Amino acid sequence: MTYQIRSAEERRRDIQDNAARLGIDDDFISMLVETFYARVRAHPRLGPIFNGEINDWPDHLAKLKDFWASVAMNAGRYSGKPVPAHMKLEGIRREDFALWLGLFQQTLEEISPGPETVEFFMQRAARIAQSLQLAMSGLESLGRRA
Ligand code: HEM
Repeated sequence: MTYQIRSAEERRRDIQDNAARLGIDDDFISMLVETFYARVRAHPRLGPIFNGEINDWPDHLAKLKDFWASVAMNAGRYSGKPVPAHMKLEGIRREDFALWLGLFQQTLEEISPGPETVEFFMQRAARIAQSLQLAMSGLESLGRRA
């Protein structure tokens, strides 16, 4: 069996080709982030959480567009730290993540060019949500033991 060592540049190109095949570009990500967060802000449970924390929405949305462009297209434009940003939030429940993911899926199903694109984003969002939840609940359980 021959193993090929692919350069970072080749891997990056594969990721970008795959994104292009799924109809993912900066315009799509911009529409996704704008549509999704408009719904989050209007949501009866999630809205107050986000509106209570975020003062500068244009800045937040620009950050989220860079984040998703980096996740989906290897754009390398996001250099923030999502885990500490969420660990400082209080009163977030497991069900809130389920609501977040449900709203994200509903948005994707409405605006995506096809089901593969929905699946692509949902797999990544679910994985990230799981690691954020783990980090947040880890801190809670430490607090309870102390
Ligand atoms: C119930 C679920 C969630 C809630 C309530 C929530 C809430 C928030 C809030 C309030 C902020 C702003 C923090 C700040 O700027 O100080 C934030 C930032 C952010 N969130 Fe979430 N979030 C949730 C789930 C997610 C998920 C599932 C993802 C990714 C798939 C995500 C990605 C991000 C990113 C990338 C930032 C920017 C972090 C930074 O660089 O400053 N969030 N979130």
